[in-house]
Amino acid sequence: MDIDIRAAHRLRESAGAQAAIGPLVGALCAADVDLTRLRVSCDWIQYKNNFRETAMVRPVIAAGVAPDPGDDAAVDGIELAVDLRRCAQPGTEVAAEVDAALADFYATDAKVWLEPWVPGSGSCVWRFNALYWQALAMWEKATGREYEHALPGGESDARNAAAARELILDLFKLWDELGARRALPEELYVIELGVGNGGQARTWLDAFTELDRRHGRDYYRRLHYLMGDYSAHVLDRARQEVAHYGDHVSGLVLEATRLSGSVGFLAGKAFLVYISNVYDNLPTDEVASIKGRVYLVQVRAYLSASAAARIAAQFGLAERELAPLTERLLRIGPELLSESLPDKFADPGQATAFWQAMWDALRQAERYVPLEGLDTYQVTPSLTGEILRPLLAAEGDVRMHVSNGALASFADTLPLLHPFGQVVCRDLFLTGTDQYGSGFYGPGKYDGSTVNWVNGPLLALLANRRGFGVRFSQFKERPAANIKTLTAQVRD
Ligand SMILES: C[S@@+](CC[C@H](N)C(=O)[O-])C[C@H]1O[C@@H](n2cnc3c(N)ncnc32)[C@H](O)[C@@H]1O
Repeated sequence: MDIDIRAAHRLRESAGAQAAIGPLVGALCAADVDLTRLRVSCDWIQYKNNFRETAMVRPVIAAGVAPDPGDDAAVDGIELAVDLRRCAQPGTEVAAEVDAALADFYATDAKVWLEPWVPGSGSCVWRFNALYWQALAMWEKATGREYEHALPGGESDARNAAAARELILDLFKLWDELGARRALPEELYVIELGVGNGGQARTWLDAFTELDRRHGRDYYRRLHYLMGDYSAHVLDRARQEVAHYGDHVSGLVLEATRLSGSVGFLAGKAFLVYISNVYDNLPTDEVASIKGRVYLVQVRAYLSASAAARIAAQFGLAERELAPLTERLLRIGPELLSESLPDKFADPGQATAFWQAMWDALRQAERYVPLEGLDTYQVTPSLTGEILRPLLAAEGDVRMHVSNGALASFADTLPLLHPFGQVVCRDLFLTGTDQYGSGFYGPGKYDGSTVNWVNGPLLALLANRRGFGVRFSQFKERPAANIKTLTAQVRD
């Protein structure tokens, strides 16, 4: 049996976590499980709301067989995944959690499944995530608070005026130099992806106009600030926030992971692509290297039997209705759901309550499926899993994010840059893949959305191959924050 504790620092600090290890091993020794084929993986899941039970079983599917976790010949072993944070809480019976996880693994019929097995990026949690941004007003009405309050610190760093000013002064310096060489284009483009409530655009434009007045070159007259988001609702909000900037601002509905069609006209023209807290909100797969073999993590969303019974009773539904109603909710949203089924959901508020109950209870089962070759795995439409090879080779046994959405978005963003332009992206970046060995980096739930830290070294690898340099820096204005700034520009 291998025991991997990826929360070494937390383990040292938490007497409860230390005390959990004995009962954990005791419960496994007492269970009917082949210890020679068992791995135990202990995380400290800092997200109070997440997709896992305190303990869960993940089968490691054998190569060359149809995955059937119930069949011993189809699995190379099993992994027991344990959340040490919850184990450390007073009142948690660790042995009972382990027994429940083992029993639950074989009791597949007791669950209400919401989807087939898929790679992480294909899970319905991303449809929940998109629905959250599309129908944000309904969600916020139900919770009585704005989404920004769900972020750590209660406010987005995108509103930080000092950071905006620093960026703008750098731009002025560059524009002055290009102007002196008569190389400054007439139109000065800045594009922001994933605009939220428009707070970032507002902070940036306020600082820009103020600094421009002092600088005296009238760059504001030539400025075009484009705001892109996939949620028309969010975009409307952001437009209202900066309405007084008139024609200098345009809002575009776009998919951040496929930019060439929507903003391809900007190719080679953008001086700044400004992104904050978006990459951690884009779909991702995870891969794992286990004893030298590479696996794709497949997931499957479900409700436990008890959660399904509770939600069905709360809304007067049959349990078998939960999955199709969720599918319908994700397709048409809470307003149309109540309009089309008034006997089940009397008003949009009821449909939103159903949405929130489903999201709260949603869990993901996981399994490891062998990848027959990295080149057979499509990370983005134009990138294969080969890009992962150096990172996987460097780490031995590891499980890491592929950050598929962030990679696709980043790859489509780089060609938009003016030769002296830059991408500035503030987000939850890992800056070394070795970090995966000592912490948990998602997925977690923020309110109604999904969060995963971003595999920074992978983005840097992609940029390097395309002739761009990437650096990561601490967010100076809040050094204790987990947020880092990625800056990318053409390599000298
Ligand atoms: C957490 S908010 C960040 C808002 C703001 N930039 C900030 O830092 O406060 C994420 C934003 O990204 C948008 N978004 C998420 N996924 C997207 C996608 N695939 N395409 C375009 N926009 C997306 C959401 O609608 C939302 O406005």
